[in-house]
Amino acid sequence: MSTQREPMHTALESPRGIWWKPVHRTEKVWFTIAFVWCIVLFAMMPLWHWKGGQNPSGIRRRVEPAAFLARVEEFIREYKVGEENGFPIVEPPPGSDVYLLGRMWSWTPILKLRKGVEYTLHISSLDVNHGFSLYPVNLNFQVVPGYDYGLRIVPSEAGEFRLVCNEFCGIGHHLMLGKVIVVDESGENVAAESTGSGEGE
Ligand code: CUA
Repeated sequence: MSTQREPMHTALESPRGIWWKPVHRTEKVWFTIAFVWCIVLFAMMPLWHWKGGQNPSGIRRRVEPAAFLARVEEFIREYKVGEENGFPIVEPPPGSDVYLLGRMWSWTPILKLRKGVEYTLHISSLDVNHGFSLYPVNLNFQVVPGYDYGLRIVPSEAGEFRLVCNEFCGIGHHLMLGKVIVVDESGENVAAESTGSGEGE
């Protein structure tokens, strides 16, 4: 019976000869495909930003939550046209800066905008992170306290749009609803009857 033992392997010495298995040709092919695809996706990010028109170039600046609240309150005072479920409906002049505040657990105010007109929508939060999500339009933005996030928007369709929060923000997260009303050139809110809903409680 042989008691010969394999020599101990130590990482301090270089192994002798060719000890690795040469890379198989198919592995090289797959690696190349994956690498090329990575580069394509990498290039798509800036390309889509400039060419795709999908990532709105936002305006971002720091703002104290209390200062933003004061700005929103002033905005409401100036352009309030009505109320719904205790929430002010605000109709700012076409082309102006509009303000929307997310807080636990509501969106204030209800915005009444005009179709085909560009607005600068400022969104921020008073307390924690919220998610601005406009339905049924696929529009999602992070709403972060301390930041005023400005979006240049042009409403393209008249109707009532539901605003939900898509970032878990506590026990009332699912109740955090809001509304954006878009009226067409004649001031009509065409789709109001069919999609009318009374959220905001
Ligand atoms: Cu705000 Cu969830």
